[in-house]
Amino acid sequence: MKQEMSTDGNIEALSQDIVDKGSTIIELIDVKKVYVSDGVPTEAMRGISFKVTKGEFIAVVGPSGSGKSTLLHLIGGLDRPTSGRILIGGNDINKLSDDKLAELRNEKIGFVFQFYNLVPYLPVIKNVELPLIVKGVSSQERRERVLKLLEEVGLKDKAFTRPTRLSGGEQQRVAIARALINNPEILLADEPTGNLDSKNSIMIAELFRRLNDKGRTILMVTHNLLVASYAKRILYIRDGLIEKEENKA
Ligand SMILES: Nc1ncnc2c1ncn2[C@@H]1O[C@H](COP(=O)(O)OP(=O)(O)OP(=O)(O)O)[C@@H](O)[C@H]1O
Ligand SMILES: [Mg+2]
Repeated sequence: MKQEMSTDGNIEALSQDIVDKGSTIIELIDVKKVYVSDGVPTEAMRGISFKVTKGEFIAVVGPSGSGKSTLLHLIGGLDRPTSGRILIGGNDINKLSDDKLAELRNEKIGFVFQFYNLVPYLPVIKNVELPLIVKGVSSQERRERVLKLLEEVGLKDKAFTRPTRLSGGEQQRVAIARALINNPEILLADEPTGNLDSKNSIMIAELFRRLNDKGRTILMVTHNLLVASYAKRILYIRDGLIEKEENKA
């Protein structure tokens, strides 16, 4: 699996780092983020530090505008911090070039968002296998991997259905399968149930719990406290800082 993911050996080196540097998979050290729009600065993160151990399931909660999405974007390498350090598997992501950061993001991190961002005219199976087509994985292997994941999210029987014919909860499960197709170690989800009714929200929370039971590290932003209760650790964010945290494990 690692070999086919690796194009030039560097990701393999990153994987090695994770093995060598113990069980901390994510570490933030005094991370700050200032956005400047129209010359006006907004301090979205004002000095956040915490460690994530491999295999944790963390919920991030807090009021609107408190910096939750910013936190997820920075951890996922979609944006860079203004100051402070973010280590993914012991690698300081600020020291990576844009290309290497993209590589790390593609191979190590899966993203799930509130709106499923599926391609409406492509059947489920195609939506999920898209990242593999881009990578040139053979059609037989693609099919095997996609069907296995669809089974995992309980949607094998919908493989040839278009997303427009699925419920919101089903669409989100397709998006989760797609996020997992490269077998990332970390799953980041920003309000994954924000658009769902309570029954489907719980179904997604239970799915995350099962994925976590199999060892996947999960960070999930949510406004829904019932959904948050499925995580083993809850970080409460307010005004760009961690206000408190709760550990259930
Ligand atoms: N690209 C940006 N440019 C300027 N300001 C931004 C940008 N992104 C976020 N902000 C500001 O940073 C702060 C934190 O935003 P963020 O999106 O992280 O909050 P959030 O906790 O995810 O909120 P919500 O619950 O509404 O999604 C807010 O004041 C927001 O207006
Ligand atoms: Mg947000």
